[in-house]
Amino acid sequence: MTRKEAAREIKRLSELLRRHEHEYYVLAAPTLSDREYDALYDQLASLERDFPDLRTPDSPTARVGSDLSSELPEVEHTIPVLSLDKAYAHEEIVAWARKIQGSSGAEVSFTVEEKIDGSSMVLYYEKGVLVRGVTRGNGLKGNDVTANVKTIRTIPLRLARAVSVAVRGEVFLPIDEFARINSSMEIPYANPRNLAAGTLRRVRSSDVAAVPLTIFAYEGFFTGGADPKSHVEVLSLLEELGLRVSTRIGLFSADGELGGKLSSLRERHPEWTFGDFDAMVRYLGAQRETRRALPYEIDGLVAKVNELDRRELLGYTGHHPRWAIAYKFEAPEGVTVVQGIDVQVGRTGRITPVARVRPVAVGGTTISNVTLHNQDYINMLDLAIGDSVAVSRRGDVIPAVERVIEKNDTNSTWRMPDRCPACESGLVVVGAHHFCPNRDCPAQVRGRLLFFVGRGQMDIENLGPETIDVLMERESLRAPADLYAFDYGKLAELPGFGEKKISLIRAGIEKSKAQPFRVVLQSLGLAELGQKVAELLVDSGYRSIDELLALADAGSVEALTVIPGIGEKTAQTVLEGLRRPDVREQIERLRAAGLSFVEEARGEAAGAEQIFKGQTWCVTGSFERFTPRELAMEEVKRRGGKVVASVSGKTTHLLAGEGGGSKLEKARAVGARIVSEEEFLLMLARAPEPKRED
Ligand code: IVH
Repeated sequence: MTRKEAAREIKRLSELLRRHEHEYYVLAAPTLSDREYDALYDQLASLERDFPDLRTPDSPTARVGSDLSSELPEVEHTIPVLSLDKAYAHEEIVAWARKIQGSSGAEVSFTVEEKIDGSSMVLYYEKGVLVRGVTRGNGLKGNDVTANVKTIRTIPLRLARAVSVAVRGEVFLPIDEFARINSSMEIPYANPRNLAAGTLRRVRSSDVAAVPLTIFAYEGFFTGGADPKSHVEVLSLLEELGLRVSTRIGLFSADGELGGKLSSLRERHPEWTFGDFDAMVRYLGAQRETRRALPYEIDGLVAKVNELDRRELLGYTGHHPRWAIAYKFEAPEGVTVVQGIDVQVGRTGRITPVARVRPVAVGGTTISNVTLHNQDYINMLDLAIGDSVAVSRRGDVIPAVERVIEKNDTNSTWRMPDRCPACESGLVVVGAHHFCPNRDCPAQVRGRLLFFVGRGQMDIENLGPETIDVLMERESLRAPADLYAFDYGKLAELPGFGEKKISLIRAGIEKSKAQPFRVVLQSLGLAELGQKVAELLVDSGYRSIDELLALADAGSVEALTVIPGIGEKTAQTVLEGLRRPDVREQIERLRAAGLSFVEEARGEAAGAEQIFKGQTWCVTGSFERFTPRELAMEEVKRRGGKVVASVSGKTTHLLAGEGGGSKLEKARAVGARIVSEEEFLLMLARAPEPKRED
């Protein structure tokens, strides 16, 4: 960013912040959330750091100090004061717990507690006496605020026993107290956290005593007088010693019982929640839902390994413990400006508007492009070029526009163009999306080619977008089959195409011919025929394109819908696609080029006799030898049979285990042969799988 741009941006942000401060403090009608305010504020502060001479004395950043106050003495921490790794979806927390459980021999349990939104505090007690209260600071050094901490009634000056312990806790202000105190403040605070943090750092402790701060203790590092083995013991100990501990605690483990160890805890803590990992998912969701009803603010939940010896084994990364993780309710946001909206045309012709925003750092990465999905989404946001917007990473990956913070002057909403930006065809609307109806549209052609050569499809190395563009422009490359007909030697005339590059492209093309049928099938890029459906088709016995083309000609939707995982719409769309003349032509040309349009049955490759070839099997009931019953299905497939989910006129065999119900009747009705487990085992014995020689 140039100095001039920075100056303009600093002015804009300062004005925006000032206006919102006025709305918040004077009018008491804020239109920005605290988070958005903080994001704007951070951006201004960072610009001012880059261009210090542009900082004005009346800048909104001139009001607030840093965490480490120069007016208070600094002291070094004697324990590592780390922060937490975080996630924004509760599934991630449970996945984290399952992973730790998976890597551990013994059963691990996990506590879930509130992540109090206050000011981090370390209380050092020696032989039971409070000797020092220190802010988190930078983790190594903090501010000594002992005198201030001593005014907090819920912090004991002497513990019930003469233990030596460093207690970590969060100093906070209950919401109602915040409202009461803040309303009489000359310069009010944005939230209870800021008021608590500001108060703790006051130089005169009598000012601190006037604010009813309180604390929840959540960690204790004992160095003498006690030797707890688990986090719940630590929490109980802290409570016994006279500290305040939150009662909203959950304790979870894989089986929810911890080998019976839980029963005494249940009795002692009837207010806690206990359960297995499914209960943990529910607990995280419920806590999130009910947090607004709490008398204090929490910004998330913290899951921690309960067993302290396990914690030690897990250890720390440079920044945080591996034995704990924060579930944050709100993903981080940034505030930026929409500089333009590009319209992209996908391989299917679908038009996607993408906002180009001024790059903004959000949660560690920079966001510069944000998908806007479709016109409905843009209408919902009421978005136009020039608007200031809040952006986030949903689920921490895909950038999204959360809302418009300030409209540009024209007050308009952006509208999708009438024509395709690549080929000028009139766009058509299907459902929520706009489409370019021209299959020869260069943007669609390019999209299809890039899809075909891309990772996950044919994976042709060295055929990237630049090469595809050159081939499209100079050599009238139009369809995947052209890639196999082209004389790549000709590229040598062009700048940037050395011998080495050309031979790599050739090698990539040759290698792609070895891709199995299932990969070729999904690389065709037909609607609804993605990787999953291609696998389902091949694994249910459709191992050649000719079988599928025959189904398409016959319109046998039902032949596909019997496959578990394939629904009516998918079946219809796939068959329609396979009937298209242009698709047929591509298939024939690709087949002629040497691509695989047949896949050997796995059993064939391994040599098992194809005794079930041409048969269609359905499996029902439970088995002694095949649990889960998918194992039986595998055996059928390995020997050339097709497996379907329900009995129909095409079903030739029903493998019936214990308790097979309605399928038995249906099989009898359609005349399918009913095979018992015993009989099935005999059949398998006739076509054993050869032993592998490796
Ligand atoms: S555990 C090594 N538990 O959240 C232990 N932290 O980024 C790490 N916090 O700085 C902290 N409630 O100020 C823990 N129940 C809780 C917490 C909690 C709030 C704060 C704490 C810390 C930050 C983590």
